[in-house]
Formats: sequence, C-alpha cells, structure tokens
Amino acid sequence: MTKTVYIKTVGCQMNVLDSEMVIADLKRHGYQVVDTPDTADLLLYNTCSIREQAEEKTYSALGKLRDTKDRHPEKKIGVLGCMAQKDQEVIFRRAPFVDMVVGPGQLHALPQLITNIDSGEGRQMAVSLGRTEGKQAVVARSHETFDPLRDPSMRPTPFQAYLRIQIGCDKFCTYCVVPNTRGPEQGRSPVEILSEARILAEQGCREITLLGQTVNSYRHRGEDGDTDLAALLEQLHEIDGIERLKFVTSYPKDMTERLLTTVRDLPKCSPYLHVPAQSGSDAVLKRMKRGYTVSQYMEMFERIESILPEAAVSSDFIVGFCGETDEDFQKSVDLIERCRFKNSFIFQYSVRGGTKAAERLEDDVPREVKAQRNNELLAVQNRVAKEGNKKLRGTTVQVLVEGPSKKAGKADEDASIVQMTGRTHCDRIVVFDGNRRQAGQLLDVHVDEVTSHTLIGRVRTVELVSIGL
Ligand code: SAH
Ligand code: SF4
Ligand code: F3S
Repeated sequence: MTKTVYIKTVGCQMNVLDSEMVIADLKRHGYQVVDTPDTADLLLYNTCSIREQAEEKTYSALGKLRDTKDRHPEKKIGVLGCMAQKDQEVIFRRAPFVDMVVGPGQLHALPQLITNIDSGEGRQMAVSLGRTEGKQAVVARSHETFDPLRDPSMRPTPFQAYLRIQIGCDKFCTYCVVPNTRGPEQGRSPVEILSEARILAEQGCREITLLGQTVNSYRHRGEDGDTDLAALLEQLHEIDGIERLKFVTSYPKDMTERLLTTVRDLPKCSPYLHVPAQSGSDAVLKRMKRGYTVSQYMEMFERIESILPEAAVSSDFIVGFCGETDEDFQKSVDLIERCRFKNSFIFQYSVRGGTKAAERLEDDVPREVKAQRNNELLAVQNRVAKEGNKKLRGTTVQVLVEGPSKKAGKADEDASIVQMTGRTHCDRIVVFDGNRRQAGQLLDVHVDEVTSHTLIGRVRTVELVSIGL
C-alpha cells in the first residue's frame, strides 16, 4: 500500500533544496506527497535555527501534534534540518511524541530510520558530529549531503532550481549558528555540480541559482588544480538550455575583480549580487567578527559599481546586536542611503546558544529598541528601493515568467487573462497581465509603474508597422 508524506519547510534556500531531495528519496521508497498533515502517514518538519522565533514557531507547530499522535500512534513524526542538529535530544524532551530527529547532513538516513522504527527499535536520531567531535575531515564527512537526488515537483517552479555548490561555513560570525548546524565549509566537486546542472537543463530548467553560505568563497581542490566560482560559472555557462545563472549568498571580502569581470563577460550570469553588510558600524562589525570594515565594504561596493554598473545589489542587516548604540545604528541607515540596495533583509538580533556572542557578549539592546530600529531601517530601505525602481519606469525588461501571481488566486482558474509574475535578469519581481501558458518563457515586459518591491508592466507585442503600398 502506498504511504503518504507531508513535509513543512521553513528557513533558507538550503532547506528548500533539502526537502526536494528528501521527497525524491521517499518517493523511491514508495511514498506519495500530500499537502495536509491530516492525511499523512509520515509528518516531516524541515526546520531552521537562525533566530529564536523560527525555533519557537516549530516547537509550537509540534505541540499541536500531541493529540494527533495520541489518536494515531502509527503516524510517524520527524524533525529534520538545522534545529534537529542544534537541539538533538532537547527535541525529544520538549516533544516526546516525535519519532525521528535528523540533522541536515544525515538526511540520506531517513528511509533506514523509518525501517528501524517499523522493526521496533524505538525513536531514532541521526545527527552529524559537532565541530570539535573529531578530526576536521571526519566531521566534514558527517555533514555531507546527497544532492544529486531531487524531485522537480517540489520546486516552486519547474524552470528554476537551486544547486548547492558549497556545504557548511567556516566564517564563524559571532551571532550565527550555521557553522555548527551545517558543519565545515566544503566545496562540492565541479564534476558533480556540472552533471547535476546538465540533468536540470534536460528536465527543462532554465535558471539555476547556485547555493552556498559564502558562495563566492567557493573553492574545490582537485587533482588537476583548483576551481573557484568564476571558473565554475564559465563551465556552467556552456550548458545548453540554461539561460540564467545566479549565486547566493556572497561574502563581502571574497567579491574579487576576477569574479565580477566573469559575471560581466558571461551573458547568462545575472547582474544580481546578494552581499550582506550586516551593519554600517565598524565597532559592531568587529564584535560580529565579520572580517571587514565599512570602508572595505564600500571599496567592494565601488568595485561592483565600476565593473557591473547595471548590477542590483541586496543586503542583510542585523539591528540591535550586542552593544549597538544609536550612533552605530545610524551608520547602518547611512550605509543603506549610500549603497541604495535593491532590497535588504532586516533582522532583530536573537541570541543563539553555542555561538561566541551568546557566550561572551551581552544582549543589551531592549526588545522595543530592536523593533523600533527594525522599522526605521526598513522604511529607509523601502524608500531607496522605490527610488531605484522608478529609474526603470518606461524601460523594457526581460522577464523569466514563473506563473500566476498570488493575487491571481484560485478564483481565476478559468480566466484567460490573469496576473502573472516573474523576475528580471537582476532579480526584480515583475507582475503583468498574461496567460498561464507563458510560465517558463522569457518575455519582454514594458515597465509602467513601480513599488519598492515590484515592477508592474505589460508584455511588449511586436509592433506592426504598415508599409503603405
Ligand atoms: N551565509 C549568509 C547568511 C546566512 S543567515 C551570509 O553570511 O550572508 C541569513 C541572515 O540571517 C544573515 O545574513 C543575518 O543577517 C541573519 N542572522 C543570522 N544569525 C542571526 C541572529 N542570531 N539573529 C538575527 N539575525 C541573524
Ligand atoms: Fe553565518 Fe557568517 Fe557563515 Fe553567514 S558567513 S553563515 S552569517 S557564520
Ligand atoms: Fe536556517 Fe539552517 Fe538555513 S539555520 S537559515 S535553515 S542554514
């Protein structure tokens, strides 16, 4: 009999990709995906630990399953991802009805863990080694992933796919859990990456986004020499069918001239760079151990502007980090004003167990101040984003169409004209009136109006010029 699985994914693109792989694997083991927990035999939660709020949401979703498990003890519940790696047995303590805890580096073990439960071995845990629990190479191996397996039906659209090129992170920013949850930085082999990209192209994928926590630090040491991100992009660029290449997230210090000129010279590479600054204050950056000063960030930014003048740059900021004064915060406002980012993700600092900041620095900015700074920075970012987008009014942009927008909704299922959405080469969101068949096409769209997050346009039709005879 076919078994059913429900999966809920939160967190970053890495988790979206991991869920795609888990589902591909489970389908090979006879499972079928359902979209509500009620009808599922197996309930999976792919979790994130980046901020406390993300974890609390998951714990509260799990809490709601207590009754379900009482009524249906045969249903299995699995907690996957970063929170599984970080909290381990704590999850069993807080939610004793959970059957499996599986870290992001151990997802390949899932079918075996299910078999173990079925053969009466009780609840199961598979996690990777901690950073100091073994030799570097052994720890790294315990965090490896099983990327080539994936399931296109799990993607938001079939024309776009994520491709992991780097696992883990070695930067150890003082606030961040990722080096612990995802383990040591490892560049995947270019041979594997290229073969995965070719398979994606054969499946009809037109846009690939390369993933890594510090993706531009990518390096793979092979027998015939080193490969960096620029060299990898050159090889991926050769693949027929792939029209666009993006990569996220970049680390400011590794944004080299070589990488930028490669992006400029390869037409398939999107002129879009996500290079989080995190703060505009040197004192805060130092406490965060980001490894650069504001003036070094600005040098990098100017390098982008001179080599890729059309590029859209986006950032992340943390407000209310330990010891952040009003003056420090003002410097983050100034940085957004100077760089005029396409968009910024803004987060309130959240203490994370196991990090240097949690051990050594006091979380001394009051909650209300964090919230206030968050709102203020967001307002500045929204203003500069809108001003940036206004420059595109009246121009024509090339859009890779993703599908009907959220607004198109279910009500319009039979309508011939619906609001469609897609992205420009530089990652701006565009909406326009079109039809569902346009999904997956690259279309020229004329921009009529803009907001801080969206360009609103109409598809350009070929103008017919009559040659009066
Ligand atoms: N590897 C990426 C970011 C991964 S986490 C990079 O270095 O750019 C995504 C974002 O979450 C970070 O850029 C940071 O802005 C935010 N973040 C990470 N840890 C956080 C914490 N403890 N509290 C609040 N925000 C945090
Ligand atoms: Fe976290 Fe810093 Fe690594 Fe990004 S670079 S994942 S913020 S430790
Ligand atoms: Fe969250 Fe893990 Fe990604 S902590 S942001 S899911 S790497």
